[in-house]
Parts: sequence; C-alpha cells; structure tokens
Amino acid sequence: MRFFILFLLMINFLYAETSYEAGKKLYLAKACYSCHGNKLEGMHQYPHLANRAKGYMTYRLKKFRSREADTQQQEMMITFSVGLSDEDIDNLTTYMYEYVEEENTESYDDSYQVSGDGGS
Ligand code: HEC
Repeated sequence: MRFFILFLLMINFLYAETSYEAGKKLYLAKACYSCHGNKLEGMHQYPHLANRAKGYMTYRLKKFRSREADTQQQEMMITFSVGLSDEDIDNLTTYMYEYVEEENTESYDDSYQVSGDGGS
C-alpha cells in the first residue's frame, strides 16, 4: 500500500502541469495568438508579450478584466480578459515572462522575397 501511494505521488509529480504549460494552453485556447502572435511577438498595433514583466502584465490584464481601458484600441482586450480567473492570469503572465521560443513554433513567414524584375 505504501508503495502504491508513493507510486501515485510520483505519477502526480510527473504529470503536474507547470504554470508555464498551463499558460501556454490558455494562450492558445483563448486565441491570444491571433492578435499577439504565435511567438508572442506582436503584430501591427498589437503589442509583443514575450519576456515582459510579469507584474506589469498582471496589472494590465486585471485592469482590462475590470473593464477599464485607457484608449479605444485597448477596449479590444476587455472581451478577452473578462473570463480569466486570477489563476489564469497568473499562468498566462508566467508564460509571457518566461517565454522561450521553440524551434517548431509556426509563425507568419515574412521572409519571402520577390526576386527578379517582375517580368516587365
Ligand atoms: C482582437 C485582438 C486581441 C486579442 C485576441 C488579444 N489581445 Fe491582448 N491586446 C490587444 C490590444 C489592441 C491591446 C492594447 C494595445 C494598446 O495598448 O494600444 C492588447 C494589450 C494586451 C496586454 C497589455 C500589453 C501592454 O503593453 O500593455 C496584454 C498583457 C495582453 N493584451 C494579453 C492578451 C492575452 C493574454 C490574450 C488572450 C487571452 C489577448 N491579449 C488577446 C489585442 C488583442
């Protein structure tokens, strides 16, 4: 019995999800990437989020969650943050702060270059 409990504890330890992983899942599930990018790199008017201070990001998300925005553009974020719990925000901000780029992360390919004279 003792070994069985030990075994269960080990399983639990092995499969325990880190805050980073939970944040990553949320980031994908809540479609944050559609504006802030797959690599948290941001695009157009959407700010990049990779490796930014956890405290500040938490403050921003909680402000959006309480339906406060300083500009009309920021109001966009309200919809995406009202459903977040404190734990969700904690996980998301850990993911942003600790973000490490993975080899296989897909992103928009902006390296495409047109060569030649365009046929003219
Ligand atoms: C529809 C596009 C859109 C989606 C989807 C979106 N955001 Fe945003 N996000 C914005 C805009 C716009 C701003 C405000 C930019 C500004 O300050 O002008 C913003 C700002 C932020 C900020 C504050 C950054 C800063 O520099 O102050 C954080 C943090 C953030 N978003 C996280 C998230 C998370 C987490 C999700 C998913 C739950 C998400 N966003 C989904 C558009 C989006």
